[in-house]
Amino acid sequence: MSSLSIFRTKSVDSLIHESKTRGHQLKAVLGAFDVTMIGIGAIIGAGIFAMVGEAAVGASSGHPAGPALIISFLITAVACGFTALCYAELAAMVPISGSAYTYTYATMGELVAWIIGWDLIIEYAIGNVAVAISWAGYFNDFVKTAFGLDIPIWLRIDYRSFIQKAAANPQLFDLSAVPHVLGVPLIFNLPAVAIVLAITALLVIGIKESSRFNDVMVGLKLVVLAVFICVGFYYFRWENWTPFAPGGWQGIRVGAATVFFAYIGFDAVSTVAEETKDPKRDMPIGIIGSLVICTVVYILVTVALTGMMPFMEMKNKIAEPLIVGLEYNHVSPWLIGLVSLGSVIAHTAVLLVFQMGQPRIFFSMSRDGLLPPYFAKVHPRFRTPHVTTIWTGVVVAVLSAFCNIDEMANLCNIGTLFAFVLVCVGVIILRYKDPGRPRPFTVPGGIVMPLLGIAFCLFLMTGLDKVTWLRFVVWLAAGLGIYFAYGYKRSLLRS
Ligand code: ALA
Repeated sequence: MSSLSIFRTKSVDSLIHESKTRGHQLKAVLGAFDVTMIGIGAIIGAGIFAMVGEAAVGASSGHPAGPALIISFLITAVACGFTALCYAELAAMVPISGSAYTYTYATMGELVAWIIGWDLIIEYAIGNVAVAISWAGYFNDFVKTAFGLDIPIWLRIDYRSFIQKAAANPQLFDLSAVPHVLGVPLIFNLPAVAIVLAITALLVIGIKESSRFNDVMVGLKLVVLAVFICVGFYYFRWENWTPFAPGGWQGIRVGAATVFFAYIGFDAVSTVAEETKDPKRDMPIGIIGSLVICTVVYILVTVALTGMMPFMEMKNKIAEPLIVGLEYNHVSPWLIGLVSLGSVIAHTAVLLVFQMGQPRIFFSMSRDGLLPPYFAKVHPRFRTPHVTTIWTGVVVAVLSAFCNIDEMANLCNIGTLFAFVLVCVGVIILRYKDPGRPRPFTVPGGIVMPLLGIAFCLFLMTGLDKVTWLRFVVWLAAGLGIYFAYGYKRSLLRS
C-alpha cells in the first residue's frame, strides 16, 4: 500500500476490520427476506409504471418499441444480470455499507473510489429526484380520483416545465394566475418536497422500522401488479401484437435504454450489508433474487399491457400507460383507483430505499477521511447515520421542487451505468490480485460475465444524449476538485 499515491488501495481485511472497530457500527438486524424486499422496493417504481409508455410509443425518440418492448426488457435484464452477479460476489466478500465505493477502494485505489462515491450520488440522490417528481404526478391523480382534490398546477411542477407547457396550453399554464412573492412566481413541486421530507424523518428513526414499512409497501405493489396482469391477460387480443416491432431493432434498442431506469435498484441491496445478519449468504440472495423476481414481473406486465390495447393508445396519457390500458377496456373505476394507489406506493418504496442508500455511502466516505468526520456521526439512540440522512433529504427535496424529470432520469442512468462498469472491473481485478480470498459467492465462468457486463453497460451509455454526457463530465470534474482540496490530504489511509 503506497502512502502518497492516489492509487493507494485498502486491503479487504483492513476494510472489514475498520468497519468493526471504529465504533461506528450500525445495527445488524436484516435477514435474506428483508434485503430481497429492499431490492424489490428499490426496483419496481417509475420505470414500469411510467416510462414504459415512452419506450413503447417512442414519442420523443421517434423509435417506438411497440409490443417488442418485451424484448427490450429482456435485453436490459441480461445486462443487469451480469452486473448483479458481480455485485453479489463483491458484496458477499466485502460486506461493508459503501457498496461500489468500498469495492473500488479495495481494487482500483482511492482516487477511483472517490470518483465512484461521488458518481453514486447521481444514482441515488438524482434518481430519487426523478422518482419524487413522478410520485407527485401519481399522487395528484390519486387524490383527484379518490377525493376530488386537484392540487393547483403551479404547486406540482417545476418552473421550466411550466413555461414550456404554457405554449401548448396557455389556459392551464397561465403565469399571470400564479401567486408571486416579491415579484417571483411561486412555482414548485410541493408534493415531491413533502414526500422526500417525510421519508427522511422515517429513516432517521431507524432502519428496522423502515424495513418493515418497506415490506408492507412491496407486498402491496406486487399485489396491485398481479391484479393488473390478470386483468390484462383477460382482455388480451393477439391482433394488438400486430405489428410486433413497429420501430424494428432501433425501437427495441432505444426502448432498452429507456427502461434501464426500471431495473436500477438491485445494487442498493449492497448498501445495507453492514446491517445484515449474515451478509455472506444474504447479499447474493437479495441482489440476484430481487432482480429475477422483478424481471418476471416486468415481462408479465409488458405482455399484459401490450396485449390489452393497441400500443399507440398509450400516447394519450404517456406517463400512465397502465391506467390507459384499464380505461381502454372500460374496467370498473375502483380498479383504476387501486392501480393508481399501487403506483403511489411503488414510488414511495423506491424513494425509501434510495434515500436509505445514499447516506450510507457518504457515511463510508467520511469513515475513510474523504469527507469530514461530521458525516460519519451515528445517532446515539436510533443508531442511524442521521447527519447524512438529513443532508441527503434536504438536497433531494430542494432539487425535486425545481427540476425536470427527464433530465434527472437520464443523469441517473449514466451515473449508474458508470458505477456498474467499475463494479465489473473490480471483480476482475480482485480475481487476479487476491485469488485465494474465500468467495462465499463466485460469478461462474471466470471473467467472461464481468466482461460482458462491462460491454453491455458501455453500449447502453453510448445511447444517452450529449447534454447528459456533458452534465456527467462536469459533475465528475467538480468531484475531482473536492478530492484534491480535501480528501487527498485528509484520507485516513494516507495518515
Ligand atoms: N427502478 C426504479 C424505478 O423504476 C428507480 O423507479
